[in-house]
Amino acid sequence: MTRITVTVDGVTYTDDVEPRLLLVHYLRERLGKVGTVVGCDTSNCGACTVHLDGQSVKSCSVLAVQADGCEVTTIEGLARDGQLHPIQQAFHDNHALQCGFCTPGMIMQALDLLAENPNPDEQAVREGLEGNLCRCTGYQNIVRAVLDAAQRMRPGAGPEAERTTDLPVGTPRPRTAEQEQQASQVAGGGQR
Ligand code: FES
Ligand code: FES
Repeated sequence: MTRITVTVDGVTYTDDVEPRLLLVHYLRERLGKVGTVVGCDTSNCGACTVHLDGQSVKSCSVLAVQADGCEVTTIEGLARDGQLHPIQQAFHDNHALQCGFCTPGMIMQALDLLAENPNPDEQAVREGLEGNLCRCTGYQNIVRAVLDAAQRMRPGAGPEAERTTDLPVGTPRPRTAEQEQQASQVAGGGQR
């Protein structure tokens, strides 16, 4: 067993865990954060997406011990004082869910892409969500909802919910070296 201390949705937990325990299972089974779901066993679907220190990760591909000392935000940490986060409201208003199974992961991934690019066009949204699968195939309205959320989250658009990091909503993060390399490959017509 390994002792970890993790802050999840603003609450700090200290637990002894098996080193092989996946973060998604820690969240669901130990903390009861069942809003984060498991949709595959191949790290393909993105249903388990959460933020780890503000970056989206598939929590089925992260060990709980790797989250030691980190801040995790799940779909359950977005609403404030009974008010849905603007992106949750946008999904609701745009009918961007059918069975809803993919929705938590879609929303957490969409927040990450909006932090990178607060003004995405449709193509950028589709690319940003390409790691998240909707088995109901409701992509059209999901994309619409994310574009709507971008409008709602714009500074001055109203009382906005906080981003899941200390970065203000919509603040572009500096690119990593890997992202810079990918961007230059794309610009040069290379493989992504
Ligand atoms: S459950 Fe994590 S990617 Fe499918
Ligand atoms: S709404 Fe059913 S999987 Fe996306």
